[in-house]
Amino acid sequence: MPQRIIISENIQAELPKAIAACEHDRVFFLTDEVTQRSCLPLLRDCGVLHEAHVITIPDSDTHKSLESLAHVWHELATHGATRHSSLVNLGGGMVTDLGGFAASTFKRGIDFINIPTTLLAMVDASVGGKTGINFNGLKNEIGVFSDSRFVILDTQFLHTLDAANLCSGYAEMLKHGLIHTEAMWAQLVGFDLEAATRHDTTAIAALRQMVADSVAVKEQIVKQDPHEAGIRKALNLGHTFGHAFESWSLRRKPVLHGYAVAWGLIPELYLSAVKRQFPSRQLHQTVGFIHQNYGRLPVACADYAELIELMYHDKKSRGHEINVTLLGNIGEIHIDQTVTEEEVKEALDFFREA
Ligand code: GLY
Repeated sequence: MPQRIIISENIQAELPKAIAACEHDRVFFLTDEVTQRSCLPLLRDCGVLHEAHVITIPDSDTHKSLESLAHVWHELATHGATRHSSLVNLGGGMVTDLGGFAASTFKRGIDFINIPTTLLAMVDASVGGKTGINFNGLKNEIGVFSDSRFVILDTQFLHTLDAANLCSGYAEMLKHGLIHTEAMWAQLVGFDLEAATRHDTTAIAALRQMVADSVAVKEQIVKQDPHEAGIRKALNLGHTFGHAFESWSLRRKPVLHGYAVAWGLIPELYLSAVKRQFPSRQLHQTVGFIHQNYGRLPVACADYAELIELMYHDKKSRGHEINVTLLGNIGEIHIDQTVTEEEVKEALDFFREA
């Protein structure tokens, strides 16, 4: 059954309707410790919550683990879940990924609904059916493609986010603009992100519409290629370097996923300019926006070998080859592009010196 995305300003009214459309002999909610405290109270007037069983797992990506998954299965099993029950995942990408996987495997699959509470989960993680957990030290190593029945996007949750989490999610929006249209990209790089991080009312109101537009870009790509055999790889723009930056940082001072993606866009747009004639003005304007809002990652020449090694181990690379998505222009996508180690080093030089 296709996933339905609901952009809502009244989640208390939308959620009961979504649950009514799912199997619902018993309803379960999954939260982490943070969303239980800061987001679950926003649903307090939802009658359905009072009859539901709430399962809570510790927050942060380190708990996207087999232990947390087993805890969710155990809670479902011991509180009477059947094949006709539903799970509502209320949280960021960790909760929607893990909860989606728990629901998709419990009794061979029960209905689930995603209510993303972070900007990153709204525009990326909760949409498109990727579910799973980290395993053996590797991110998202175990999982399945499985769509939630509904994604309910309520931007009132944006008010619960700190500045770093807003910027993190915004990086994926910037990526969506780059792979979509000049107009969407121009709006994104022209936006006062700093005002949104201060929860300025006008900026948040504008962000609401931009979130809806951004999700529509992802939805449209995922519909064409749900299992990432082709065009869905466009969504990997910024992620070959981005994942390497994220893993490199994990060994030093961890950074949020979106920051790594924002930084990853810089060398990948540089390679786009060198290999595919991506225009210089759009390159420099995007780089300027990223520096202004995300600062810089302190990599040095001495880190290049480690970063290259990480890129070879990326899920997107096959054998001894580094794979990237490049752009010929905004919205002009080239998937499955290979780059040499020399090109990677040149892009990292640009990254450090731009
Ligand atoms: N996060 C990229 C995708 O869902 O394909």
